[in-house]
Amino acid sequence: MKTQSILGGLTPQAFLRDYWHKKPLLIRQAIPGFQPLLSRDALCTLAANDDVESRLITRAKGKWQMQNGPAKALPSFSQKAWTMLVQGVNLHDDAADALLQKFRFIPDARLDDLMISYATDGGGVGPHFDSYDVFLLQAHGRRRWSISSQKDLTLQEGMPLKILKNFQVEEEYVLEPGDMLYLPPHYAHDGVAEGECMTYSIGFRAPSYQELGEAFLQFMADTIDLPGRYADPELAPTRKPAEIGNAMLDRIATELDKVRFTREDVAVFLGEYLSEPKPNVFFDTVERPANLTRFIASAEKRGIKLSRKTRMLYKGKHVFINGESFAAGASDRKLLALLADTRMLDGESIKNASDDMREALHVWYIDGWLLPA
Ligand code: SIN
Ligand code: CO
Repeated sequence: MKTQSILGGLTPQAFLRDYWHKKPLLIRQAIPGFQPLLSRDALCTLAANDDVESRLITRAKGKWQMQNGPAKALPSFSQKAWTMLVQGVNLHDDAADALLQKFRFIPDARLDDLMISYATDGGGVGPHFDSYDVFLLQAHGRRRWSISSQKDLTLQEGMPLKILKNFQVEEEYVLEPGDMLYLPPHYAHDGVAEGECMTYSIGFRAPSYQELGEAFLQFMADTIDLPGRYADPELAPTRKPAEIGNAMLDRIATELDKVRFTREDVAVFLGEYLSEPKPNVFFDTVERPANLTRFIASAEKRGIKLSRKTRMLYKGKHVFINGESFAAGASDRKLLALLADTRMLDGESIKNASDDMREALHVWYIDGWLLPA
């Protein structure tokens, strides 16, 4: 399926220019005849899994309640107005991963995950806003979305989840399976299930500058090199022993001022930071892995593909995989960029890999970061 077809005939260029980060877009039959990728039971099984992030939201007599997963026991399916949200389904299911890949006209550095919500009649998470762009794809049943461009984003106090204080509906759409609604960040919305329904949220990530700054300073702490030690051969006697003297302050300020960072430092930091898997991601290591020779022989025949859980990025010669970075030689660089972009390499390409790259591929295979195709 071409990207264009999930955007209702709009090209990615036109979508990004006119809607992305700007205004909502309703795409009727973005994926015609769309069928849920996971059954209700499969989704519940996933939600009960310890390394899957999930939340259960109920509303009884107007009172919101939220419980973090793993969701081992769920309300009855005949009980109204509850909803279960399952995060990162793409990490656990091939079809969900394949759906997310259709949104790769947006860079991986921005793409986050596929969340699936299941709701019984009347279920939802209440009127709220998100800080990220989102595509809401209706997968099963119907959901009524009320949306608003309101600037008043004050939240009700003392709630277990974000609920807008004054939600003023401007538009309403009932989405059927295959319909998709795009919402920019901070656009108020409320989706209520009309009968049992499932909605898929394709979410994005946009780290705050504060978060980036703090992580960057930690990264720089491992990188800086400031030789020498404080010395004061000209020290004079003091009558205020507790005071930090100006001479000391000046000297140390001058030394610390030598901390510099380049655009390349930022690139390496960003690649490591953005390719770091979430804390709840565990790779399935191979129990009895093939040795290097056998692994390469099989990879040259059948090719390899990245695990659904692997995050791989690159910038220039720097390659990043699951939070690690290294500089690749000129010929490997092209192959690794191809692996990151297409998430696979065919056997013929692997024949061109250097010994270093073959060894790296073998280690990644043992760690479960990639697997034979
Ligand atoms: C849902 O699917 O119920 C909630 C998704 C959202 O509003 O972001
Ligand atoms: Co939302």
